[in-house]
Amino acid sequence: KKLLPKEEGLDHSLSVLREGYLYITNRTIGFQSDIFETRLLGERAICMRGEEAAKLFYDNDKFERIGAAPKRVINTLFGEGGVQSLDGEEHHHRKNMFMSVMSTEALAQMRTITRKHWALAAQRWETMPKVQLYEEAQGLLCRAACEWAGVPLREGEAQEKAAWFGAMIEATAAIGIKHMKGKNARSKTEKWISDLVEQVRTGEIEAPEQSTLHTFAMHRDLKGELLDSQTVAVEIINILRPIVAIAIYICFTALAVIQQPEERKKLATAEEDYLQNFVQEVRRFYPFFPFLPARPIKDFTWQGYGFEKGVLTLLDLYGTNHHPDLWDNPEKFRPDRFRNWNGSPFNFIPQGGGDHYTGHRCAGEWITIEIMKESLDYLANKMEYDIPQQDLSFSFHEMPSLPHSRIVMINVKAV
Ligand code: HEM
Repeated sequence: KKLLPKEEGLDHSLSVLREGYLYITNRTIGFQSDIFETRLLGERAICMRGEEAAKLFYDNDKFERIGAAPKRVINTLFGEGGVQSLDGEEHHHRKNMFMSVMSTEALAQMRTITRKHWALAAQRWETMPKVQLYEEAQGLLCRAACEWAGVPLREGEAQEKAAWFGAMIEATAAIGIKHMKGKNARSKTEKWISDLVEQVRTGEIEAPEQSTLHTFAMHRDLKGELLDSQTVAVEIINILRPIVAIAIYICFTALAVIQQPEERKKLATAEEDYLQNFVQEVRRFYPFFPFLPARPIKDFTWQGYGFEKGVLTLLDLYGTNHHPDLWDNPEKFRPDRFRNWNGSPFNFIPQGGGDHYTGHRCAGEWITIEIMKESLDYLANKMEYDIPQQDLSFSFHEMPSLPHSRIVMINVKAV
């Protein structure tokens, strides 16, 4: 067996907070190895990046998720008992529930709903002296998400609920007040949604048959039983919250539109291929989900290195999307690279890799792309606006990262 390159020291969690998305990349460069060993959160950890590493990570015979995510992430971002921490048959069955609401028709419906809410928002913004895109996009997406999922939402509630989802998203790597806000927002949201689930079950409210609310409320587990309403709420929030999180990608999309006038020109005809490639490049280029944790279910050897059962293993998503062996000039924003992308499920993994049905790959990847294409069309073609002087920089140590000004627009006009 070969020895893993090893970072000495008792614990490097602080370096993760300091270096953020670049923590793993920085060390793979230093070690000249796509895999190394360190200590994080008080335990031994193996970190890795690249296509081969992703293939390994998504091998269900070798890795499981139970007990892999830190408790603080479950308390805020994921929720207790959700699909992220299930394995095997139970995971597969629950994942099918998610994928059943992602039919081609449902995706097309989401695109139409998104377009409607962008049109309404653009009208609203015409009357505002200045628009902060992040907050506005959260509100827009919260309305769209609830409408699509069959969750009743009064117009007056949209911004409040959007802020709850926002607090959960921003609590991911936070400690102190931000973490508490995330926890608090989660408990309020779970109460709101679990009450709705009970009302659907008693027939007090009606949700469209194919909607997320109806499908999840009536879903039966492997034993043929309904899930408890709390768990259903966690899973419905696993649909609503990440749709609201697309506000982050909308800000990065706007940033790319602002900074890449040549690329923007190519979008003028709103051709689907161009929108698609631009959106793919936004997902590859900008940091969002940094890395994912799992644990081996048994001892095995890979490329000469020993993996022991249970050892914390992190797959670097950001580092894989920027790996110099996989991407030509990875630090340049070039949508056209996706014209010849080979479509591998393991080299482009902003929302996880592998298979959507049998693995943990993001259930919402397709819907994210649909929402982003529609949003891009608005940002590039269907609105005019000015970008006043502001801090458009973003940091690699903030997780999730976001342009610091949160994108301020003035003189907005729908065209
Ligand atoms: C899982 C990223 C949007 C629903 C994941 C994972 C990542 C991710 C990295 C983990 C994959 C793994 O564990 O292997 C993102 C990003 C998004 C996004 C960057 C952009 C905003 C969405 C949307 C939805 C969604 C819009 C739902 C409509 C889920 C679910 C899982 C998941 C349910 C758990 C899947 C499982 O454990 O089997 N996402 N996601 N995500 N995502 Fe997303």
